[in-house]
Amino acid sequence: MQIVNKKDVPEILTVNIEKLSNLGLGLAKYEGYVIFVPNSCPGDIVKVKLKKKNKTFANAEILEFIEPSKDRVEPFCKMQNVCGSCQLQFIDYKAQLKYKKEIVEDVMKSIYGDKIEVRDVIPSPIIKEYRHKIQYPIGQTKDSKRILAGYYKSGTHDLVNIKYCPIQPNECDNIIEYIRIKSQELDISGYDEVSAKGTLRHVVIRSSYANKKNLVILVLNTDKINNKIKKLCKFIYDELPNIQGVGINFNNKKTNLVMGEETEIVEGKDYIEETLCDKTFKIGAKTFFQVNPPSADNIFRYVKEYIKQNYSQPAILDAYAGITAFGLCLSDIASKVVSIEEVKESVELAKQIADENNITNIEFHQGDAGKFLSNETLLGRQFHITILDPPRKGCSVNSLDYALKLTENKIIYVSCNPATLARDLKYLKEHGAEALYIQPFDMFPHTYHIENVAIIDLKNVKVPDIKLP
Ligand SMILES: C[S@@+](CC[C@H](N)C(=O)[O-])C[C@H]1O[C@@H](n2cnc3c(N)ncnc32)[C@H](O)[C@@H]1O
Repeated sequence: MQIVNKKDVPEILTVNIEKLSNLGLGLAKYEGYVIFVPNSCPGDIVKVKLKKKNKTFANAEILEFIEPSKDRVEPFCKMQNVCGSCQLQFIDYKAQLKYKKEIVEDVMKSIYGDKIEVRDVIPSPIIKEYRHKIQYPIGQTKDSKRILAGYYKSGTHDLVNIKYCPIQPNECDNIIEYIRIKSQELDISGYDEVSAKGTLRHVVIRSSYANKKNLVILVLNTDKINNKIKKLCKFIYDELPNIQGVGINFNNKKTNLVMGEETEIVEGKDYIEETLCDKTFKIGAKTFFQVNPPSADNIFRYVKEYIKQNYSQPAILDAYAGITAFGLCLSDIASKVVSIEEVKESVELAKQIADENNITNIEFHQGDAGKFLSNETLLGRQFHITILDPPRKGCSVNSLDYALKLTENKIIYVSCNPATLARDLKYLKEHGAEALYIQPFDMFPHTYHIENVAIIDLKNVKVPDIKLP
């Protein structure tokens, strides 16, 4: 279809929202020209004003609702439209799941390029108070010097001071309010992004779903801890309920990374505990752990059940392992698990968890997954199943090549980014590995994010020509 020239697209027009884009924006078309409309829902008919027009698409803002979609509901958070975290909260939860499935299907069609079965999304067991890792940037008002803590307004660095966030445990709001007040009393300044001045840069909370305890980390724009900060840590630990530990992280670089390298625990313990697949895990300040524990539990049990039904005592490689959550959950149905993770703290915790759960059939390795898999190839080891659970950017080509070489039977690819999953599935398919289906899980209710598990069969694999280092 010929796309209309952008000059011929009116600045103000009425459009039907057809679907959601992969970033959760309503998508409409005017004679083939794509219009993205934030805060709109499939089924909405809206009058919009276009912002800057690009060659094939424009972003637009809603001027008027001509007819609202039947899937619209009242958002349960007053800040929904301001804070930018819950892009889909105004859509009925069941409809969110339907649209998320369509997002995965669309991404697969456009990048993977072939038909692939995408199953119905498995809902999150809880849809409020589910987020158990909280990272609030801290700022300060110029005149009154009030401490601000919250999220950035969508697409900006304007800090929205959030006093109540219904998607995180209630207690975290109290902890953050306490830190706002005490910091001001102790004359601890909030960070200013422009001048890179001010002491308190972020508050990070790891909150346990299992026992409701919290680990609080204050991220500082300095490289040493002073008496005021020590006092603040002690106040938090002594005066607030359910605090398991309070620590400091030093981050005085001009960077978008929330935490720096060094963390020092000032009060209490350096971890919280969480339960997955009936096993107890330890989570530290910087350890990766899925933010929604009950939904994560669904994923781990699903993968375990799949393996149990199809294999007897397989050898499993757990790559991009974090605290080896998959490996530890699967250890009782596996002959052996080998795990590889690059963050040292996670590997150390994983070893402790194995000890405390009397698990003896896991081999833990720390380092880069690609390099490790290449070494394993040199050693000639083979695994029945490889689990790949990389960060959003997906796997390196090297990791995929070596995973194909090392794995006899199935790759189970767990992904939080449908675009990089589709890219990697396409690459694997070019080498004969066939994705049987994708099972999505809703780990992040009310956002456009979606977690996927792809089951990939290797029986027709032609092992790629690997350049050994
Ligand atoms: C999405 S998390 C998955 C963790 C784990 N499977 C879980 O579910 O808890 C990805 C993990 O990969 C690790 N990682 C990122 N790049 C890596 C690399 N090149 N080599 C090894 N691990 C890496 C991160 O530190 C993180 O723990």
